[in-house]
Amino acid sequence: MADRYLVTSALPYANGPLHLGHLAGAYLPADLFCRYQRLKGRDLVYVCGSDEHGVPIMLRAREEGVDPQDIVDRYHAQIEASFERFGMSFDYYGRTTSATHRETSQAFFRTLYDAGVFTERTEEQLYDPEAGLFLADRFVRGTCPVCGYEDAYGDQCENCGSSLSPKELIDPRSALTDAVPELRSTTHWYLPLGDLQPRLEAWIAEHPDWKPNVRGQVGSWFASGLTDRAMTRDLPWGVPVPVEDAKGKVLYVWFDAPIGYISATKEWAERQGDPDAWRRYWQDGDTSLIHFIGKDNIVFHALIFPALLMAHNDAAPDPQWVLQANVPANEFLNLEGRKLSTSRGWAVWLHDALDDLDGFAGGPDLLRYALAATLPETKDADFAWADFQNRVNGELADVLGNFVNRTLTFAHRFADGKVPPLENPTDADRAVLDSLAEYPEKIGAAYEGFRTREAVNATLDLARLGNKYFNDTEPWKTRESDPQAMRNTLHVCLQLCASLSVLMDPILPLSAARLRTMLNLSNVCPSAPNGTPGTIGWDAAGLALLTEGHALGEAAILFEKIEDDFVEAQRAKLEARAAEATREGPPYEPVKDTIQFDDFAKLDFRVGRVTVAEAHPNADKLLRVEVDLGYETRQVLAGVAEHMTPEDLLGKHVIVVANLAPRTMRGLESQGMLLMAEDREGRLTPVLASDSEPGAVVR
Ligand code: 2FM
Ligand code: ZN
Repeated sequence: MADRYLVTSALPYANGPLHLGHLAGAYLPADLFCRYQRLKGRDLVYVCGSDEHGVPIMLRAREEGVDPQDIVDRYHAQIEASFERFGMSFDYYGRTTSATHRETSQAFFRTLYDAGVFTERTEEQLYDPEAGLFLADRFVRGTCPVCGYEDAYGDQCENCGSSLSPKELIDPRSALTDAVPELRSTTHWYLPLGDLQPRLEAWIAEHPDWKPNVRGQVGSWFASGLTDRAMTRDLPWGVPVPVEDAKGKVLYVWFDAPIGYISATKEWAERQGDPDAWRRYWQDGDTSLIHFIGKDNIVFHALIFPALLMAHNDAAPDPQWVLQANVPANEFLNLEGRKLSTSRGWAVWLHDALDDLDGFAGGPDLLRYALAATLPETKDADFAWADFQNRVNGELADVLGNFVNRTLTFAHRFADGKVPPLENPTDADRAVLDSLAEYPEKIGAAYEGFRTREAVNATLDLARLGNKYFNDTEPWKTRESDPQAMRNTLHVCLQLCASLSVLMDPILPLSAARLRTMLNLSNVCPSAPNGTPGTIGWDAAGLALLTEGHALGEAAILFEKIEDDFVEAQRAKLEARAAEATREGPPYEPVKDTIQFDDFAKLDFRVGRVTVAEAHPNADKLLRVEVDLGYETRQVLAGVAEHMTPEDLLGKHVIVVANLAPRTMRGLESQGMLLMAEDREGRLTPVLASDSEPGAVVR
């Protein structure tokens, strides 16, 4: 790879706070990568920003009855602050409502438009007559044509992951008003992705080293054939389409958002006082452009944005945009064994977790470590608070923290708080120093290959090595029997601590800095922008960094252990939030069309007493019930076996639809129907008429 990098993390939508799922996908691995590369001395710019356009923002604004601008102002500020507290090392964090972004994305569109890249098409699209809006993307919900999930979005089914277009939904309804949409014709500009497919395929083939999940997803897009995509929308919120006669139209959010990476780099350059500096990162073939994303963003970063850059390179050949060198996408993070879902309240909010870790030794680093060690790199992974506790206590505190602590305490007690000389080292002493020399390369190779978990584990291995060596050389014994041997042990362990303070820095930046204070080690290169420049970088961490006689600082606890009640409190919080969200959550079923009294009078409801209730012999979901209607007994088959046991019904006075035509269900005849109440979660309970006699008419 080249020595210059432009690294991006997906721009989060400014429509809600960040949660751990966000971090595990696009942010934490990128931050570790960038900090490592900076320590390596590479020329790197890392940009991100808030994605402030698109339907998700508008939906949120509608829900709250405020302007989209209020929403993005609020969440942009909150997201940026949380990132900062978590230790994200962006060179620049922008927002897509900036003037620079508007100009940049409009100019990009206009170049493609003028070169005739887009196909202009007038087509019928779903329109919400009540809201007076065309229903793009997430403004429509309906049944997924692939898996039958009833609450799929117009652009994607969250259940089966299929990518959809609004018109494919079965029984579509407006997410705004619940109205049944009508078709109206409108004109849009399409990117001819179909034509670009052969070129994209050839380009992807040049990257056999990309992660298998990315190549796999891209491969299946190719297999089903890329189709042209509209790059504009009829919406009142977004970057206006810079073309005459495009009133009321804005750029598709997935057109403008990736260009946000360019705008953010421009704004960074501006702030550096070198307004053209961005060009080195975007228009010089020696730059590696790397997008860190979650798997739901693969198509946009590995196909659509590259296609836009290619088309722009054809339309305006000089200078050429660099294309992506890699798109390391992560899979999803589950939470306590369940799919993360913000609408169901099953999420850990970053700001909340950071508040709770406030005051703990290690603070945000505890979360960074536990997450980095469990990233969903090759498949979905699970975050559980008990695992968090195990990682913090068993790895950070017991391995890394313990090694540093015992070394420093020993050095203060028995070596005058100074680095003792290394004299006549044994083979064991040398072996440890030789091993140390290999670590920068070993950990670095994992970062370069986007194997962050491996890098984290290898970093901890160095502390494991240190602990083993400390135990094996038994300085508490040699202190009396062979004081130089003890001094050698301490010398070697202190060198390991110094190296660790560099090598652990990407994962644990705050703790690494604290460790350097304890070691009185200055002059280490900063892993984040704006740090004090230093000369000790990544590669130097394979060498002995401390000189004999170097005076150490004071020792302190690096990582605090997590008690059981912390874990319990976190779990309880999660459960409580989920319960709350469910209470507020699902919508009430809309009331059906009005009927006349005569329609109602046709139904014959009777009170019936359940005399027999048992499982249906041939169907798991059905119960077989006999009801005494006073004048006769009926057999009724009720599809309620997943909601209640036969005992829940036995002896109860229920309401029966007595004049429903009989029908056979799995070999038995059902001679009526029991009335059930279905709540918003789809749970059923029988409607009871406790004191009425069997056969009584319900009207
Ligand atoms: O999926 C999302 O959250 C999008 N806001 C990501 C945008 S990434 C980029 F293209 F800006
Ligand atoms: Zn589906």
